[in-house]
Amino acid sequence: MNENTMQKTIAIIGAGNIGCSIAEGLVKSRKYKPGQIILTRKHTELLSTLGERGFLLSSDNKKAIAKADTIILAVRPAQTDELLQEIGASLTNEKIVISVITDVALNTFYSYISPTVPVIRAMPNIAIAIRESMTCLAALPEHKAALLEAVDLFNLLGTTLIIEEQLMVPATVLGACGVAYFLRAIRAASQGGIQIGFHADDALHIAAQTAKGAAELLLKLNEHPESAIDKVTTPRGCTIAGLNEMEHEGFSASMIKGILRSFEQAENLYAKHDKH
Ligand SMILES: NC(=O)c1ccc[n+]([C@@H]2O[C@H](COP(=O)([O-])OP(=O)(O)OC[C@H]3O[C@@H](n4cnc5c(N)ncnc54)[C@H](OP(=O)(O)O)[C@@H]3O)[C@@H](O)[C@H]2O)c1
Repeated sequence: MNENTMQKTIAIIGAGNIGCSIAEGLVKSRKYKPGQIILTRKHTELLSTLGERGFLLSSDNKKAIAKADTIILAVRPAQTDELLQEIGASLTNEKIVISVITDVALNTFYSYISPTVPVIRAMPNIAIAIRESMTCLAALPEHKAALLEAVDLFNLLGTTLIIEEQLMVPATVLGACGVAYFLRAIRAASQGGIQIGFHADDALHIAAQTAKGAAELLLKLNEHPESAIDKVTTPRGCTIAGLNEMEHEGFSASMIKGILRSFEQAENLYAKHDKH
């Protein structure tokens, strides 16, 4: 990312959970100062602590957009039509628009915005606040330059993958909702740890660091989970006994079924709202 890009101003329209997490990550990257980031929402009083830290706050989306080079749209799917009716005409060719909104297709954006405006769909997750997001991105082929600029931005905040737009909802489930699945798994492990003797804080610490180590084995050594598991499971040992018991109780099956159920829900979040 060149120095000019780092001088840019970013407007985050809809500064809720993910919008504020993106803002935190950008500042942690040290490439952006809070004064380069405008956060908008209707209830700006709920952002006062961020305002005290130097982030620019506004309830006026159009004014925020006018001052920004990059616009990140982070409202809920059901809030999107109203927002696009308000700001569609303010989104002009020289801006890059990045939407992290679930289930709202590029086609929908282009029914409110000129097709010459680069609109990028991005799906980060909440770990973006600590620059550990997995972010999947997609755009129309004619907006490849803007897509690569967005990739540079999100590479400051974790890992990125360019995908086909049709995979954006699956990316939402596996990458964004996925954080919650793994957090629940860590919570469950810590509860088991308490039952076998640890205080709650120690159990959670051990479970979380162990989960982190397991993930790093895959990411840093490029190993397959099963080959790593083979190294932990001594014949007739305690690991395989516990693991097989978990599988008898439906461990993998329940994770897969949960992902399919989330997918059904996610692919209708905007469409269902549209019908009402
Ligand atoms: N949370 C995640 O982990 C995550 C991860 C990836 C993607 N996403 C996607 O990101 C979007 C936001 O999710 P979220 O969890 O951050 O929801 P959220 O916490 O409800 O944030 C949405 C924000 O948008 C603001 N807003 C609504 N209408 C607005 C408007 N017209 N102008 C300006 N601000 C407006 C709301 O505040 P006011 O009511 O004060 O205006 C609220 O703060 C969703 O589409 C979600 O699917 C979320």
